[in-house]
Amino acid sequence: MRVLGLVGSPRKGGNTDILVDTILHEAGRSGHEVMKRHLHDHAIGPCIDCRMCKKGDLRCALDDGMRQLYPLIDSSDVIVFGTPVYWFGPTGPMKQFIDRLRPYYASRGLQGKKAILVSPANDGPKEADLLVEMLRRSFMHLGVRFAGSVLGTAYDRGDILKDEAAVEEAARIGRSLGMK
Ligand SMILES: Cc1cc2nc3c(=O)[nH]c(=O)nc-3n(C[C@H](O)[C@H](O)[C@H](O)COP(=O)(O)O)c2cc1C
Repeated sequence: MRVLGLVGSPRKGGNTDILVDTILHEAGRSGHEVMKRHLHDHAIGPCIDCRMCKKGDLRCALDDGMRQLYPLIDSSDVIVFGTPVYWFGPTGPMKQFIDRLRPYYASRGLQGKKAILVSPANDGPKEADLLVEMLRRSFMHLGVRFAGSVLGTAYDRGDILKDEAAVEEAARIGRSLGMK
């Protein structure tokens, strides 16, 4: 399987990054092909509701950092959505990224893929309840299977390593990605 890890935190080496790396490390050890991208490296602009993705080849007409990500999405079996909780939701780049999945609503191009949410928050998992629900409904509309989430408690860079349950859950999910 191909596993694409997306990090929507601006902090490389931060808490989201550590958990995404943990999943990818274990998935790689289990024989899966893994890759990771930081959304902040990709200059993802907002969806402008031009509706071009509802016509013709059902592709996004915008020419920006998503151009490199669409082929990776297309070729992945599992997508890890990593974002810290920012005001009870995802970070701006992760929200832009999710908005830019609109072409797949018409094409059904994500049908059958799996998604994992990774989301640390200063005040812990309860802070992510709205984010979990937002993604659950979005994945449902996109035909994506929500295959698990790793929520944790962390504030400063690296704090997540003290949340052993979160790190262990990330490792467990990474090991079990090939299973139904
Ligand atoms: C703009 C902003 C908003 C945040 N909002 C919340 C929040 O609503 N609840 C919470 O518990 N933590 C919140 N945090 C804290 C982050 O979720 C926390 O520091 C997280 O561990 C950062 O992960 P990272 O190292 O991957 O960037 C916020 C941080 C920032 C910068």
